[in-house]
Amino acid sequence: MQKINILAIVGSLRKDSYNRQLALAAKEIIGDRADFSLLEYEDVPPLNQDIEFPAPEPVKRVRNAVKSADGIWFFTPEYNHFFPGVLKNLLDWLSRPISSSEPQVLAGKPAAISGVTPGMFGTALAQNHLVTLISFLNMKVMNAPRLTVPFASQQVDEQGKLVLRDSYPYLEKQASAFLDFVRRHMQEK
Ligand SMILES: Cc1cc2nc3c(=O)[nH]c(=O)nc-3n(C[C@H](O)[C@H](O)[C@H](O)COP(=O)(O)O)c2cc1C
Repeated sequence: MQKINILAIVGSLRKDSYNRQLALAAKEIIGDRADFSLLEYEDVPPLNQDIEFPAPEPVKRVRNAVKSADGIWFFTPEYNHFFPGVLKNLLDWLSRPISSSEPQVLAGKPAAISGVTPGMFGTALAQNHLVTLISFLNMKVMNAPRLTVPFASQQVDEQGKLVLRDSYPYLEKQASAFLDFVRRHMQEK
């Protein structure tokens, strides 16, 4: 059977991002059950319709990565009770049709959402906004389980690295659930 290809999209560009660390923990948990890669998109420019066609090279690259993924797993921080602008910008680019004959690449893709924050709500508010957007874009959202990790600073080691003392089992459950969700979707196609 074909190996599942999961693409992680992290809503933070920060080098030591907790959400990037959460994505890497998910990669470790998934192990050889699927191919799992993180989308690098720092070079995607702010969307400006004056430069939309032909698409800038970084946009072509992220579109191809999404197109070849079987499932997209978002790891989002919360900025002002919303998901970060860099993620909105990326999704705006991905929401656009490639040409008059090629539709946008997100439609129909299974999606999972997780997020970690030093705050107490664990990115729940940001996640709800993200669900609204990606549902509008016709992604197939796995609404349960979603993972919210609050109080990140209480789950770090002496070097400040995220160790997920309490949340690791929930991440394991979400990883297995998402692989099943993606697999079911692939069978239905
Ligand atoms: C502009 C801005 C707004 C923020 N707003 C929130 C917020 O609404 N809720 C929250 O829990 N944390 C908020 N934070 C703190 C972030 O959760 C924290 O910086 C987190 O580490 C960012 O995720 P990262 O570690 O993956 O980069 C905000 C941070 C920034 C820079």
